[in-house]
Amino acid sequence: MAISYALNVTQVRLFISFVCLSCLCALIYAFAPFYPITQMLNWMVRMSSETETNVVSVERVVEYANTSSESQWVLASDARLPGGAAGGGGWEHSGALRLEGLSMRYRPGLPLVLNDVSIDVPAGSSVGIVGRTGAGKSSLFAALLRLVEVERRPAGARPAVAIDGVDVSQIGLHTLRRAISIIPQDPVLFNGSLRFNLDPLHKHGDGQLWVVLDKAGLGDHARGLPGRLDHQVAEGGKNFSQGEKQLVCLARALLRSSKLLLLDEATSSVDFETDSQIQATIRTEFADATVLTIAHRVDTIRDCDRILVLAEGKVVEYGAPATLVAKGGEYAKLIEAHEQGFDHVADAMLS
Ligand SMILES: Nc1ncnc2c1ncn2[C@@H]1O[C@H](COP(=O)(O)OP(=O)(O)OP(=O)(O)O)[C@@H](O)[C@H]1O
Ligand SMILES: [Mg+2]
Repeated sequence: MAISYALNVTQVRLFISFVCLSCLCALIYAFAPFYPITQMLNWMVRMSSETETNVVSVERVVEYANTSSESQWVLASDARLPGGAAGGGGWEHSGALRLEGLSMRYRPGLPLVLNDVSIDVPAGSSVGIVGRTGAGKSSLFAALLRLVEVERRPAGARPAVAIDGVDVSQIGLHTLRRAISIIPQDPVLFNGSLRFNLDPLHKHGDGQLWVVLDKAGLGDHARGLPGRLDHQVAEGGKNFSQGEKQLVCLARALLRSSKLLLLDEATSSVDFETDSQIQATIRTEFADATVLTIAHRVDTIRDCDRILVLAEGKVVEYGAPATLVAKGGEYAKLIEAHEQGFDHVADAMLS
């Protein structure tokens, strides 16, 4: 049965090829007196490659049409949050974060990249997050921002992610994301002016923009740019170095001064001195905010209130640095390696 079906398909293909070839011969024969054969063949090759290119667009449109859309940006119930989020005021929370059995996978069918993560982060505290490459550190931030929706919890169970006791899966995406600041591992700049990149909604005056640029250590560089705040940022921020892009993201975060700040190797591309300056700025400016730091250098997280060690998406250790060092686990090994001269977290974790 399968063989006869395969033969039928082959026969159909042969038949179509035969018809096409016949048409081609007929066309060539018919137009041969008017156009040279090579010109006609050129035209046919050009047309077939153009058709192939255009069909890719159709394929893409079909793919987008079948992609499920993300949740609603703002919900009517957001208005009941402190600060009246739906009225444009923004959700005013204290930054107290609780994760309960948080599990996440990037797509159905793929393995869990976060597996039953449960931690309690008091408002205003700082947490240093460490783990080897692929441990799930950035994925944790993706889950907090609902860039990827987390696994459903059993009915009646406590929410996977709660800020100030509010289940973040029950609020609008924009309401949630406006309430959190992030400096991502791959900083993103948009095509437009530096001003637009710092303050896309034009909520702040130039004076405030210069203050945050100075605090982020980018003020002198920005003053030297041809258009200053109107300097055009190329697509993807191509005319800014990786470190400068990170500093623009930091300035953006400073401007929003939210109570929950996520730093994903935020200063991995700046020199040691600038990094120390920035860490000091973050400590002062976000003194009463909850700061979750995925560190590039061990020194960045040593004075955090708590340390979270992740491995294969699971919590290996969570607690005060001194307690973890005394326990002699993974964090203690990291500190030991650091004292032997390994400055970078990744190197220290591998040693
Ligand atoms: N968009 C994605 N689609 C599918 N899997 C992904 C995606 N992004 C990350 N992963 C997988 O999730 C796991 C955790 O990745 P994640 O980026 O969170 O690691 P990480 O701890 O931040 O690593 P690094 O220190 O290298 O930044 C990895 O196994 C990775 O392959
Ligand atoms: Mg990462």
